[in-house]
Amino acid sequence: MENFYNQIANNYSNIAKKKNQFLAGVNKILISKLRSRKEILDIGSGDGLRIEIIKKKLKNSRFTALESSKEMCKLFKKNSKIKLFNLDMKKLDQIHTPKFDAITCLWNVFGHLKNNSERVKVLKKIKKKMYKSSIFLTDVNNRHNALSYGYIEVVIRVLIDYFFYNEKRGDAKYDIKINNRIIKANGHLFTYKEFSNILDEAGFKIIKTYSINYNSGKIMNSLFHGQLLFLAKIK
Ligand SMILES: C[S@@+](CC[C@H](N)C(=O)[O-])C[C@H]1O[C@@H](n2cnc3c(N)ncnc32)[C@H](O)[C@@H]1O
Repeated sequence: MENFYNQIANNYSNIAKKKNQFLAGVNKILISKLRSRKEILDIGSGDGLRIEIIKKKLKNSRFTALESSKEMCKLFKKNSKIKLFNLDMKKLDQIHTPKFDAITCLWNVFGHLKNNSERVKVLKKIKKKMYKSSIFLTDVNNRHNALSYGYIEVVIRVLIDYFFYNEKRGDAKYDIKINNRIIKANGHLFTYKEFSNILDEAGFKIIKTYSINYNSGKIMNSLFHGQLLFLAKIK
């Protein structure tokens, strides 16, 4: 995916603008949960604009960022003075920092890893960067979001996933058109159960799961009506 984000880097802020309400809805929850946290690590920070918005609301926190795409890092350095590591999250163990009070990983960064076994390995590395009291916040695309994919499609997906679960079914391939150029992209769409299991296997306990409407950014009552935002701690 590094190559994909290198290709779209200059258009990333326009893509993000289209999801502004969703991102703002998630940011609101993040800010309330991060308020008392001093050292914060953000993984997969993109162009840095979002983490800057969050930072402005958390004057007493110090931020560190990690991003794998070289082109995104170039933008990040223009947009932000936050300390940045240009590194793949799979190599998180290679950065020598003290532990963090909170770690964030926002907007389906986990969907860009190869498979669930790789995701568990990365989560275990994230865990090593946390204290027992630290919090971990991450949001992922929900493949059972009926408002995004339609009720009929989601009922079919839920039944198939229940009886014949296959991780690969969540892998999505799609095209993005930028300036008349077609760019190939891929990412994983998760079920609630799948991501909960991954967290559990890596040694995390879920404190709360939010379902956030992908258009309005409102908190929804049903896990079938939004993107999934997990707040977790070490077990
Ligand atoms: C959808 S963007 C989200 C950016 C930012 N978190 C935000 O919410 O605006 C996903 C970001 O994750 C980065 N990313 C993907 N895989 C990564 C990896 N293995 N290690 C570090 N960053 C990664 C991409 O380069 C991209 O900048």
